[in-house]
Amino acid sequence: MATESSTHRPPVVLGIETSCDETGVALVDAERRVLAELLHSQLERHAPYGGVVPEIAARAHVEILDILIERAMREAGVTFRDLAGVAATAGPGLIGGLLVGLITAKAIAAVHRLPLLAINHLEAHALTARLVIGPGPEDRLDFPYLLLLVSGGHCQLLVALGVGRYRRLGTTLDDALGEAYDKAAKMLGLGFPGGPGVERAARAGDSTRFALPRPMLGQPGCNFSFSGLKTALRQTIERLGPAALEPPLLHDLCASFQAAVADVLLDRTRRTAALFRADYPDATSLVVAGGVAANAYLRACLAKLAAELDLRLLVPPPALCTDNGVMVAWAGLERLALGLADDLAAPARARWPLDPSAEPAPGAGIKA
Ligand code: KG4
Ligand code: ZN
Repeated sequence: MATESSTHRPPVVLGIETSCDETGVALVDAERRVLAELLHSQLERHAPYGGVVPEIAARAHVEILDILIERAMREAGVTFRDLAGVAATAGPGLIGGLLVGLITAKAIAAVHRLPLLAINHLEAHALTARLVIGPGPEDRLDFPYLLLLVSGGHCQLLVALGVGRYRRLGTTLDDALGEAYDKAAKMLGLGFPGGPGVERAARAGDSTRFALPRPMLGQPGCNFSFSGLKTALRQTIERLGPAALEPPLLHDLCASFQAAVADVLLDRTRRTAALFRADYPDATSLVVAGGVAANAYLRACLAKLAAELDLRLLVPPPALCTDNGVMVAWAGLERLALGLADDLAAPARARWPLDPSAEPAPGAGIKA
């Protein structure tokens, strides 16, 4: 006869991500095992428009989501009855897509009487580093930690104080960093999303060829600004004419752009780390998260900075920096462990800051 311990299975949570143009579904357990992980990109559908079209995104999520859930459950050998909870991104993001994922999660939760976990997408990025740590006790990532969150919609420096508790120290005054990459790529004819294309082209380029501005460098505070850099890049491209869109100038422009971005990121992070250290003297970790954290050049620059500041740097593997279902399932597990399940009336929210005290109150959201 099976004993209780031999039949024990750690809690498993289903995670659903539909906030933008990737449909992500994953099953993760409380022992940090990823049992299934599926990602469906809508890139091809949005490519002709040079950016994500919200209506197309929502419809594409509807078409694929239940297929992915079924496939993930089959791959993991898990039934709905085995689940401890179902988590979906509830915001921030494109409202149509959020509604698709959240309503699906609510339906599963209602039918199978499971806890619903309505996840903040930014928190899912923020907590991923706690999933990917090593097995040893020395690998633990405890709160508080300093968090550089760089994605398509956000560029912020925060203190992660605990699950659901964040203190924002700095943010962008204009464009998010991923957005700046996407706009740079568009000007240079490198397609969407722009980050990977700019990074690839920059590898062969001379980063000293063009002296692009480093907005906010050396200024007090922890905020960012990227619009001046973007404008300077546009003016440089206009001055160079069609040659700017071909190597070697294309490569040099991308390398010069990335070097400017890195200088700004390092300056702002260095300054914020000093404040963080003063307020939390026992904290030792710097986490970088969000799609732009997939960039190998920026990762290497940040690793040097962390070594200089004697901070331990944690950056999830590239595939877990860009949007995915694993991070949503993991955030669900973190919240479930604290008894933070949500009501079936939880709304989808286009805006949902991690530190509401630092931003104007978001709207009430849309009932899913
Ligand atoms: O986190 P994410 O997948 O979606 C949002 O929550 O926004 O981030 C997407 C952003 C896009 O702007 C994309 O261009 C950028 O991350 N990105 C990169 C790289 N890979 C993705 N930026 C720079 N270098 C990369 N390798
Ligand atoms: Zn994201």
